[in-house]
Amino acid sequence: TYVITLPCVDTKDKACVEECPVDCIYEGDRNLYIHPEECVDCGACEPACPVQAIFYEDDLPESDLDWKDINAVFFDDLGSPGGAARLGATGVDEPRVAALPPKE
Ligand code: F3S
Ligand code: F3S
Repeated sequence: TYVITLPCVDTKDKACVEECPVDCIYEGDRNLYIHPEECVDCGACEPACPVQAIFYEDDLPESDLDWKDINAVFFDDLGSPGGAARLGATGVDEPRVAALPPKE
């Protein structure tokens, strides 16, 4: 799976969403999250992000390894919705993201 990391928090550019062929990039309150089972590893989202927040899981910098779990845990309550457009903005965040201090 691909993984969204810290630079997305409070940025939410959403250019990535347009690129995803399976619509598996879901909107939280402060961040977007990639569904680890719905993602087909096409790589289209990664270059679209203007703040370089997206990484293939095996290419995550050591300091960003937690983000693989953060993206997965976001879906603990949602399961596999099968499409972000249909679900819409959830208004919630994974607890570790919700606890981050505001960026500005
Ligand atoms: Fe976030 Fe970058 Fe997508 S800022 S919403 S991961 S384009
Ligand atoms: Fe979607 Fe491909 Fe990224 S399936 S989440 S655009 S790697």
